[in-house]
Amino acid sequence: RRIAVLASGRGSNLQALIDAIAGGDLAAEVVGVFSDRSRAGAVERARAAGIPAVSLRPRDFDTRAAFDEALFSRVDDVQPDLIVCAGYMRLLSADVVEAREGRMINIHPSLLPAFKGLHTHQLALDAGATEHGASVHFVTAELDGGPVIAQARVPVLPDDDVERLSARVLAREHPLLLATVGALVEGRVRLVDGQVCDHGRP
Ligand code: GRF
Repeated sequence: RRIAVLASGRGSNLQALIDAIAGGDLAAEVVGVFSDRSRAGAVERARAAGIPAVSLRPRDFDTRAAFDEALFSRVDDVQPDLIVCAGYMRLLSADVVEAREGRMINIHPSLLPAFKGLHTHQLALDAGATEHGASVHFVTAELDGGPVIAQARVPVLPDDDVERLSARVLAREHPLLLATVGALVEGRVRLVDGQVCDHGRP
């Protein structure tokens, strides 16, 4: 199965996918990495692994829709079965999302529906949460609002700060993403009528 990855940052989730595939733990191929930041670590990691990487600059486009159309036309070129947003930090326009519903997932560092958007670890600390974590969900037009496929939970400890808490969550993100991508590429999980079906059953 062909996977396209969208990423804006350091790319540790991308690296987890690359390593799992190289180690024979995931029967898939990352066929392209797509970014809104040419200097993203994810772009470097892709190139180091011999994966084609495309980055476009948002400021070269007049509108969000124009940028998204250009980026996703490059995504479509690699004919992915699955599109994984792994630390992709730009809002997506509804058109590109809706055309790919059920084929695009995102990993988000909170136990959705809690703490959508940015700064999730700080928000969890500020809220006095005793539990935090990460979610993988199907992407819909609503930011971080699509159907949740799987979550990983971690405790929030008394002396946590953003750095400690985010590291604890990130360590769980990688296996969570690998397990979810595995289930999707094997067809064990899919989106049917807006709901997550496991083993084909709602
Ligand atoms: C992760 O915490 C992911 O959940 C969030 O952005 C971060 C990306 O990390 N959406 P990396 O670039 O994969 O290392």
